[in-house]
Amino acid sequence: MQVCRTISNIRAAVAAFRAAGETVGLVTTMGALHSGHMALVAAAKAAQTRVVATIFVNPTQFGNAEDLANYPRTEDADLEMLRDAGVDAVLIPDAAEIYPRDNETIVETTRLANVLHGLVRPGHYRGVTTVVSKLFNITQPDAAYFGEKDYQQLQVIKRMARDLQMPVAVHGVPTVRESDGLAMSSRNARLTENDRRAAVVLSRALDKAENEAGRRVPIDRIDQALRTTINAEPRARLRAVDIVDPATFAPAVGLMKGPIAIMLSVEFGPNDNPVMLIDQREITP
Ligand code: PAJ
Repeated sequence: MQVCRTISNIRAAVAAFRAAGETVGLVTTMGALHSGHMALVAAAKAAQTRVVATIFVNPTQFGNAEDLANYPRTEDADLEMLRDAGVDAVLIPDAAEIYPRDNETIVETTRLANVLHGLVRPGHYRGVTTVVSKLFNITQPDAAYFGEKDYQQLQVIKRMARDLQMPVAVHGVPTVRESDGLAMSSRNARLTENDRRAAVVLSRALDKAENEAGRRVPIDRIDQALRTTINAEPRARLRAVDIVDPATFAPAVGLMKGPIAIMLSVEFGPNDNPVMLIDQREITP
């Protein structure tokens, strides 16, 4: 596995792959890798002859400097996991490589970035689309793989690639879960033992919602099933339940007519330093 710290090094690696007629799949990450990230690598490997990964804790998508400073950094273990999984080249740039001095260009999906999670994290998706478009330009992959867990992020990136005619196929990969159903996330490590046990309530609530769902069921009933399940767990603080049309992200209302996407945000731990967990499910009646 080639470990590249500069744009010119990764460009040379990709150019060599291309010259040999290979196809390139891209997996972008912020490191602290776990099995969820590795599922993206596996999907890329299954469909492309070469896989490129990136590890970059992107400053522009963090709301405050403290979050950015506290983000876990486990470079040695990350590289070992990528190497074991058969990744061909990895880019680990520093911030100045990605954001040169006087950098002033941003990429933003103007509507999708500013609804739902985008409302509580202003500027977050703009940071994501800006860095992902840079990473696409740097590595020029045929396809890129993103987790369905970060559901709005996946839709935002698909929209960006389509709107800007980027020659990259954007694929979603199903969420990888712990054995009790909790979606894998680097944040899970911050949960206390009791909160970790309680966190199963997210996937359990989505199961309940799925049981309720069916053509011509009132969306309110699905919403109630979610709230009742989360509120029954005293350690969990429900922050958001969004039930939307997956194609437009408009709120789903009235009777369930077609597919819906449910997005949950639930907080655990102390109020002044909470751990926010998210999970999602798409349900087709
Ligand atoms: P990060 O949180 O490191 O996640 C990198 C990729 O792994 C994302 O596509 C995310 O959806 C996926 N992922 C995380 N947990 C997963 C799980 N349990 N199952 C399946 N996939 C999972 O998301 C980012 O980084 C950044 O915003 C990034 C896209 C790299 C831009 O900076």
